[in-house]
Amino acid sequence: MIMQYSSRLSRFDSAVFFELNGVKQELREQGKEIIDLGIGSPDLPPPPHVIKALTEAAANPQEYGYPISEGSPFFREAVATWYANRFGVNLDPVSECLALMGSQDGLSHLALALVDPGEYVLVPDPGYPIYEVSIHLANGIPYPMPLREENGFLPDFSIIPTEVALKAKMMILNYPNNPVTSVADRAFYEKAIAFAKRYNILIVSDIAYSELAFDGYRPMSILEIEGAKEVSVEFHSLSKSFNMAGCRIGFAVGNSAALRALAIVKSNIDYGIFTAIQKAGTAALLGDQSHTSKMSKIYQSRRDALLDSLARIGWHIPKPKATMFVWAKVPVPLSSREFARELLRKTAVAVVPGIGFGRMGEGYVRIALVQPEEKLKEVAERIEASKIL
Ligand SMILES: Cc1ncc(COP(=O)(O)O)c(C=O)c1O
Repeated sequence: MIMQYSSRLSRFDSAVFFELNGVKQELREQGKEIIDLGIGSPDLPPPPHVIKALTEAAANPQEYGYPISEGSPFFREAVATWYANRFGVNLDPVSECLALMGSQDGLSHLALALVDPGEYVLVPDPGYPIYEVSIHLANGIPYPMPLREENGFLPDFSIIPTEVALKAKMMILNYPNNPVTSVADRAFYEKAIAFAKRYNILIVSDIAYSELAFDGYRPMSILEIEGAKEVSVEFHSLSKSFNMAGCRIGFAVGNSAALRALAIVKSNIDYGIFTAIQKAGTAALLGDQSHTSKMSKIYQSRRDALLDSLARIGWHIPKPKATMFVWAKVPVPLSSREFARELLRKTAVAVVPGIGFGRMGEGYVRIALVQPEEKLKEVAERIEASKIL
């Protein structure tokens, strides 16, 4: 048969993330060892008590029935307890906490629940690619909010045209940010909430990296701000905070009407998260929280190992306060795509071209700190030897 793909599918173009796979394959065939700093998949294990909770629950035959789509009461209560302990935010576990198969599950389905064709969604540019894809899924229109270095990589609400703001249904914020690594403070969130209230826009705050922060910095939740729940939902992931990326567990909290709509969409798509995984997630949220600071220390040392050694060879990159990434200006007169290709060919080091995250990402590459310190130091040695700079 002739397979005619939907026109929607053409919007799901992630080619830039995969176009270097051919080069990687060639290098492997030549016996070269690739240092892959591309995809942000955590390389560290979950805490032992999480693995124990998962294995014990998985060994129990009673855990194999269909789970509850919105999440088991024990998991939603654990989410509420974690938010209260971590951010001092009170949540109702039933109406204000929703379990997700990773935050990607919720981020990709929310627009289907809330956005009608032709409505705008304000998205960060550069930004995590699923934000835009989710809007196309709902036939909405993504409206990019440029994140510029001179504004601390925060969106400037004053340049959003009134007619766009009036037709906007949601605004996505992501701090600490992937890919640019910037962070947001209370004053910024207060401005965002005032803007959202003026134009009746739902703020979707993605805090996937809230627990990976350095030099004593502690990211905040938008829900810490008085009245935020009226206009905000927040998404969090256990993938990075507890190294549980493969378990597919996360959650959304905040505005109950928005969460109800998301729960309706999801109840037609999935039947919830394997109960044993929810038990492991509960162990992570309620157990010893020192794991996250230990993990942050590891990423901080990696950050320093990489950026100090790159600075010694003349590539100066500002140190991020949070996330597992470095957002680096391309140090030579090449596009981000060309530079990533050149770097891979000459040094077997893989990074992601900034253009993959949106038009404003051009001129940068994202480097994920997903290798041990020795490997990150070796990156600088390889770059120096290659004379690419
Ligand atoms: C900014 C951001 N949000 C959300 C996610 C999705 O995480 P998960 O679906 O594993 O919870 C990621 C994953 O890399 C991310 O970088």
